[in-house]
Order: sequence, then structure tokens, then C-alpha cells
Amino acid sequence: MRESDLIRHKKSSKDKQIFEPPEQKVEPPQKEEKLEIPAIGMEQFVEFYSKGIEILHKISEMESLDATTWQEILDFISEVVDITVEIPGVSVDVAINHSGHPSLTRAHNIMDVFLLAINIGIGLGYSKDKLIGLGTTAFLHDIGMLNLPEGLEDRDEKSPTRTGKFGRKRQTDLSSEKSTGEQGLVLRQHPIYSLQKLEGIDEVTDDIKMAIYQGHERIDGSGYPEGVKGKEIHEYAQIIGIADTYQTLTSSSRAGKTLPHEAMKTIINYRKQFNPKIIKAFINQVSIYPIGSLIQLNNSEIAKIIDTNKNSPLRPKIVVLFDRNGKRLKDKKTIDLRKELIVHIKKSITPDEVGIDVSDILKI
Ligand SMILES: [Fe+2]
Repeated sequence: MRESDLIRHKKSSKDKQIFEPPEQKVEPPQKEEKLEIPAIGMEQFVEFYSKGIEILHKISEMESLDATTWQEILDFISEVVDITVEIPGVSVDVAINHSGHPSLTRAHNIMDVFLLAINIGIGLGYSKDKLIGLGTTAFLHDIGMLNLPEGLEDRDEKSPTRTGKFGRKRQTDLSSEKSTGEQGLVLRQHPIYSLQKLEGIDEVTDDIKMAIYQGHERIDGSGYPEGVKGKEIHEYAQIIGIADTYQTLTSSSRAGKTLPHEAMKTIINYRKQFNPKIIKAFINQVSIYPIGSLIQLNNSEIAKIIDTNKNSPLRPKIVVLFDRNGKRLKDKKTIDLRKELIVHIKKSITPDEVGIDVSDILKI
């Protein structure tokens, strides 16, 4: 699809009212009270994750998608949505831990954003149909990046805050719209390249095309490619914008990566760029201390978050892995911090700090 065609498509879509009227909220199924991570769910998710990477690699080798691959994508998304609705925290766990994987590729970035976006959709009370629409958009939104030269995005990766002239911290732009020069121009074209890969598939709806095109737009107009504002940006694109920003900040492929709770704070600080309703759903689903992340307690023990407590975000459920002397515990100790008030979280830590392999964390 050429840019001129896309703009035409955008105008005609606007005439037809591209934004769906707000649907009645469907309450997501209540997560069961549990202290242990369901092993089957985790295994299935790791399998789904590998399958997603495989499909993305296949897409990267195609000029445009064929009908068989399109059907494979739809089946895959439907399966992932079903299992995420059943056990939402597990997919966040997989996304967060793969975000910390040292050999992260663009396909891993896409998978992480895809899983985070579905979780945000669940937090917004989306129906299964809408979750599939959102998931399809999130899975395809960056396929145009798969064939771009490596390292193109590095020039745009900035620390969430930088020290200004007078030692004061100043915010930097997260949407990269200020990028100039040839590399910046190529990077800002990638939503169009994503759409070009879908040209042969008639079933891709206008909603999905629009949301793929708008994934880097921000509600204050600071995004790209068009710099549109507020409700002009499709809700799926607004969700992907938050998931993508969080994933970029926490990704270990990024210089100066940020711990999950710091990335969350950054997004809250950038509330002018994001829809407050979606930030709220994101915090509820992903939490300040996401499932799967590591923390140090005030008694120096190291633990992994295994479940959140919705009304006490700072007091999740944990499993202690290392004692206060750094010795690995043979018998895992689970604690609900809401009930053990004498213990509290001192700080978030990275797997590297305690010498844990990421794949090891997934098994815990
Ligand atoms: Fe993108």
C-alpha cells in the first residue's frame, strides 16, 4: 500500500466512523486465588512464545502474507487469547522474562508487546472478539520492522530522563518523532511497511489497518507518522503504544534498560502521551511489581513475584528463592505479603544481580 493510498484509506475510514462505539464492559474471568504458578499454563505459554517467533520469522521471509500464513496467525492468536484470559499473569511473566533475555530480537519485541497488549485489553474488559482484533493488530503492527537493517532503532533509544543543563532532570521524548536524517525517516516509515506485508489479505479490517498505522501516534500529537491526537487514534493503537513503550524501556537490548517498576513510573509520568484509562488498566494487569519479576525484601531475602494483590499493589504474593546470605533455598517458601506485614519489598532487582538464568526463572 502506497502512502497516498493509505491516506485515502484513512480519510474514507474516518467518514465511516472508524472508532467503535463503546461496548458494554464484559468482566474478565476472575483469577483464582493461587500461590503456585500453574505449571501447565507456563509450559503452554513458552510453547506459544516459540510458535509466535517461528511465525514472525516466516513472515520476515515473505514479501507479503499468503492465505495459509494468515489463517495460521488467526488460529495462533485465538489460542493465545483463550489461555491469556484463563491465566493472565503467566503471559506477563513470559513477556517480562523474555524482555530480559540477552539475545532479544525484533521478533521477541513483537511477541512481548503482543502479550502485554492482550493483558491490557483484558484489563479494559474487552470481549473475545475485541481481544482477537487487538491481538492481531499487536502481532502485526511491527512486521514492517522485521526486514529493516539491524540497529536502526538504537539512535532513538533514549533514557527516560536525562540530566539537563542545570543538573535538573528533564523528560525526553518516548515516541521518537524528533528523529531526523535518513535512518529516522526509514524508521518512521515502518508502519507503512507493516501494511504493505498485508496487501494480499482482504480479510484485514479497516480497524486493524488503521491501528497498525497508528501504533506510534500519541494522544498529545507528539507521535508519528501523522501526529494525530486524542480520539483520532484508534484504541488498539493507544494500547500498543503503552505496551511498546514499556517493552522498549525494560528490554535488555536497550542501553540503560529500566526495571519494570521504573518503566511503569515513566509511563505514568508520560500521561500526556497516553490515555489515563489505558494506563490504569495496564497498572492493574501488569502491576508495579509484575508477575515473574525479582525483588529483594527488607530482610535481604530474594524472591520472585508469583501473583498480584489488586488492592495492595505493593504487597504481592511471592516465592522466596534465596535466603538473606544469598544461599539458594531448597524448599521454596511462598508468602502473601498482604498477610505478613513485617516483611516488605525493598527494591526490584535483575536476574543478573543474583546470577539467575532467565530460563531458570521461568521454571520456578
Ligand atoms: Fe513500531
